[in-house]
Amino acid sequence: MAELAGIFASSHGPMIVRSWDKLAPAERQSLDTGFQELGRRITAAKLDALIVISPDHWVNFFLDNLPSICVGVGESHDGPPEPWFKAFPHRKLAGHPALAEHVVRTALARDFEPSVSYQLALDHGFCIPLWKAKVDPLPAIVPVIFNDIEPPFPSFKRCYAWGAMLAEAVKSFPGNLRVGVLGTGGLSHSIGEADMGRIDEAFDRDCIRHFERSDAATLCDFLAERQPGAGNGASEVRNWVAAHGAAGGRGFDLIGYAPIPGVYVGCGFASWKLG
Ligand SMILES: [Fe+2]
Repeated sequence: MAELAGIFASSHGPMIVRSWDKLAPAERQSLDTGFQELGRRITAAKLDALIVISPDHWVNFFLDNLPSICVGVGESHDGPPEPWFKAFPHRKLAGHPALAEHVVRTALARDFEPSVSYQLALDHGFCIPLWKAKVDPLPAIVPVIFNDIEPPFPSFKRCYAWGAMLAEAVKSFPGNLRVGVLGTGGLSHSIGEADMGRIDEAFDRDCIRHFERSDAATLCDFLAERQPGAGNGASEVRNWVAAHGAAGGRGFDLIGYAPIPGVYVGCGFASWKLG
């Protein structure tokens, strides 16, 4: 059977790439430190495959077809199409169709109905953490797209349950495979809103404390109440909640957090201690 060998979370704000040269040296240093340790932990997990949970920023889906959750089951995925992200070295990222299909079948058996796609482009939400953390060579990627972008959203409780289901899918996959889970996005940020650029540091720190200390119900209740006031980008913390669910709600280990005004995002990095 496959082994769940690592669970991780990372912010992915696009200005981490777009505005890198304009950031204050201390901002660059803070991000480099977080990504470097994230990369060290991912590399140490010696992964064959990595399930990456990210939103789709209007690349694959639009208002005419906006799934709540979509699993990429293709042999490969296209690299990021953003014109400012040409430095990303992979135009194709290998997928893992067998594991992806097993995730979908497990989901259906547990009363989830994800959509599936055989052809996805993986935007900056997937690729910034992989690139900045210097994950090389890349494990096979199973993309899971959560709609964190346009309401109505999946509930936090449901995202947590999705993560728990992912862990079950990994552990029941017939194959000698080391599999990781990476949730990307958040923490607080506001994009295209009247308060664009606002970072809600109090929310971010409360959020981290709940990941560290609270049970799943308390964490989800906190987020349902407070996330809507922390900027539309904070919705992406759903992907961290799914990672937390994959870890059974235990072992959250903060790598680092800093509000980075130059990228408009409260940037966080974490992994979960398994055992
Ligand atoms: Fe995003």
